[in-house]
Amino acid sequence: MADPTASRPEAGELADAGLRLDVDGPVATVTLNRPERRNAMTFAMWRGLARIGESLPEPVRVVVVRGAGPSFSAGIDLSMFERGGAEGGDSFAGAAGDDPADAERRIAELQAGYTWLRRPEIVSIAAVQGHAIGGGFQLALACDLRVIADDARFCMKEAALGLVPDLTGTKPLVDIVGLPRAIELCLTARTVHADEAARLGLAELVVPAAELDGAVRDLAAALLAVHPGAAVATKRLLRQAPHNTLEQQAAAERREQVGRLKELFGSGGAA
Ligand code: ACO
Repeated sequence: MADPTASRPEAGELADAGLRLDVDGPVATVTLNRPERRNAMTFAMWRGLARIGESLPEPVRVVVVRGAGPSFSAGIDLSMFERGGAEGGDSFAGAAGDDPADAERRIAELQAGYTWLRRPEIVSIAAVQGHAIGGGFQLALACDLRVIADDARFCMKEAALGLVPDLTGTKPLVDIVGLPRAIELCLTARTVHADEAARLGLAELVVPAAELDGAVRDLAAALLAVHPGAAVATKRLLRQAPHNTLEQQAAAERREQVGRLKELFGSGGAA
């Protein structure tokens, strides 16, 4: 759940972080908005994403994550590796620090920019055109669904830079493509084009680039057409299915259905 006490970030604060948020009733659109840098990501951007997640207004049921310009995101802003760092002063200088626990706490703050996209209260859709590299690929993986343009290209580049993917991408990648393919993709840092991405299950839909926005709008409309409470309960069920035994999952289905029946028919409702 979003934190009801969290204040909505100002548009200016988000713009400084290279982000834009548009809320239109039940649909929120988060735009990575540094097209001149191919939406390269800074610490400020990741913290801004976390702020959006914390303060998402309650009526929002669908979140679209998109990138302005030709690429979804070129991943981490490489200037953060240089002396002086990226715009806004973000830099890796001293990022590891002396205290590993402190460094891990800082990474957890950045991961919070991704984890909220899995909440049962929303369905998140990544609309991917062009490159989705490293942290950009992981942001697409953090979403429930991926609608991609036929020019989309995914690359988990971290290993080539001496890093590991640490923005919550390793689990969904393994869940979607399986362990051997995930090892192959991460440890070669090779690029996966749209047709292969669809074959691997990394995209629910591939469309011509000019049709990406329309396809995402249609999907959002279809998601909004089902019962809101049933959507939340069903996503909660589906999310736990891979970790449950059949018995545990059947029990979870019973619990959720009793909640549904109560809401639909009052406390006397029964199947
Ligand atoms: N960090 C900082 N600046 C970037 C990044 C980045 N990750 N990616 C692109 N830019 C900048 C370029 O330097 C260029 O700046 P300039 O106009 O001042 O020269 C501008 O964005 C446009 O980039 P081009 O390379 O000209 O755009 P093109 O569309 O031809 O290529 C591509 C896009 C493929 C994404 C290419 O820019 C690229 O390979 N970028 C680096 C990707 C990368 O290695 N990311 C790290 C991933 S690992 C991780 O996220 C942990």
